[in-house]
Amino acid sequence: MIEDEIRMLRNDHRAVILAHNYCRGEVQDIADFTGDSLELARKATEIQADVIVFCGVTFMAETAKILNPGKKVLIPDPTAGCPMAEMITAAQLRELKVRHPGAKAVCYVNSTAEVKAECDICVTSGNAEKVMATLKGEEIIFVPDMHLGGYVSRRLGEAYTCWKGFCPIHDRLELRHVAAGRRAAGMDAPVLVHPECAKEVREAADHCLSTGGMCKFVKESPAERFVIGTEKGILHRLKKENPEKEFIAIGDLVCEDMKKITLEKLRDALLNMRYEVVVPEEIARKARKAIERMLEVV
Ligand code: 13P
Ligand code: SF4
Repeated sequence: MIEDEIRMLRNDHRAVILAHNYCRGEVQDIADFTGDSLELARKATEIQADVIVFCGVTFMAETAKILNPGKKVLIPDPTAGCPMAEMITAAQLRELKVRHPGAKAVCYVNSTAEVKAECDICVTSGNAEKVMATLKGEEIIFVPDMHLGGYVSRRLGEAYTCWKGFCPIHDRLELRHVAAGRRAAGMDAPVLVHPECAKEVREAADHCLSTGGMCKFVKESPAERFVIGTEKGILHRLKKENPEKEFIAIGDLVCEDMKKITLEKLRDALLNMRYEVVVPEEIARKARKAIERMLEVV
């Protein structure tokens, strides 16, 4: 069985396998740890193993490498990128900073290492509100996600200059999907959406949460049915951890990049020690500051 091969190779190489909540179910099942972007970044700081195999998209693997410069970090498919992270370049951010001298530059973790290197601090969807609360009263440039930026600025009653980036997957979710979810699940079922969704969808939902936040909410809630407005991969974990509860996913949201990580590619990554994530030293040093500042807050 391919799972046995992976376990054997993992032990031989003293490797740890990390997986994002959107990964294929079978990849989540073989991983040593599955979580959201914040949980995975934190986990990366605690790892003793020599090798980290990161099952997720490139910005996540880069974050693990930046936090572990001395370890070998592998990604099973280096073409698994995040389209939103590619919506702003470091040069574009530098230009924006010139137009807003004195502003704090904040990036969503869904950004390239080069963009992080230009920022004062980083946030994830799991901690954005808490991190941004520490910057109240400051002028803020927020990149690349206009939806997360808009969500937090409204929650805190602050105005940010947001880059017009977005997640092409979550951006597909519309009000009619929320309405259909409510009809299918019944009016008592809480509607949970990701902050990468558009404003009207966030406002029509009951809770706006990171993927890790959704897992925690479902576990602690007395409700029996939930409407889920995020990438469908999360249903694997929700069902596994809450077999007695029911989930209605809306919008048929699939992140093709996350799905590029298969068991075969994971096995080949361990077998051939590929594909190694490399972040140039100077970029990594600057990006690490932005990530570590975030981890100090929460
Ligand atoms: P989370 O940090 O909530 O897992 O989100 C990551 C992501 O890419 C959402 O599209
Ligand atoms: Fe990027 Fe969207 Fe995929 Fe998340 S779901 S990794 S934001 S494209």
